[in-house]
Amino acid sequence: TASFVIALDGPAASGKGTLARLISDHYGFAHLDTGTLYRGVAWVVLDAGGDPADPETAAAAARDYAVDKIAGADIRTKEVGAAASVVAANSAVRAALLDFQRRFAGSPPRSAAGAVLDGRDIGTVVCPDATVKFFVTASPETRAHRRWLELVASRPGLQETEIYQDLLDRDARDAARDDAPMAAAPDAELLDTTHLSIDAAFAAARRVIDGVF
Ligand code: C5P
Repeated sequence: TASFVIALDGPAASGKGTLARLISDHYGFAHLDTGTLYRGVAWVVLDAGGDPADPETAAAAARDYAVDKIAGADIRTKEVGAAASVVAANSAVRAALLDFQRRFAGSPPRSAAGAVLDGRDIGTVVCPDATVKFFVTASPETRAHRRWLELVASRPGLQETEIYQDLLDRDARDAARDDAPMAAAPDAELLDTTHLSIDAAFAAARRVIDGVF
């Protein structure tokens, strides 16, 4: 099993994905962005013309899920994000994806010394024994602006207000679901990135990790 597991949870566009990448590069740990699993399942359902809210359709897509099914697909759109949070409220979907995430944490690829997982329920459900847990937040305005900057190049005319409402809807769905709702684990370090540059947020995370290493 990996000696070191770092869990990063938090709402959409909080900075947890960027931090997870920087941490995995810096410490040589394997990284799993668990949102891609839910986005992948949602994309498969949408691509087949299915309804993400239909429990059986989403559960079947999660059980059959494999990364090669989404090769080349654009899973980062806001439509796929919204559908991902719908399939993510389905317990059969979550159960089907749990083992893969735990195996990744326990024996990361290429025998890395540790694993970094980012998502919504890593510190609470997937890896409750993670060595270090972060709950990363930022104000909704800041998060909407960051996501808009990411998406506008490929989508000219996209309004920031549209993104803002999307993020709030998605956060509300993620926090309110019965199964593994988005939540900070009691032992998570809270990291508010609203007024932090990427460098400053990364430095703050390193101070916590190096204190435990
Ligand atoms: O992080 P990302 O925006 O890619 O996640 C897409 C959706 O997947 C989230 O809105 C959430 O509903 C779901 N998700 C989850 N549990 C995780 C990671 C993502 O429910 N660990």
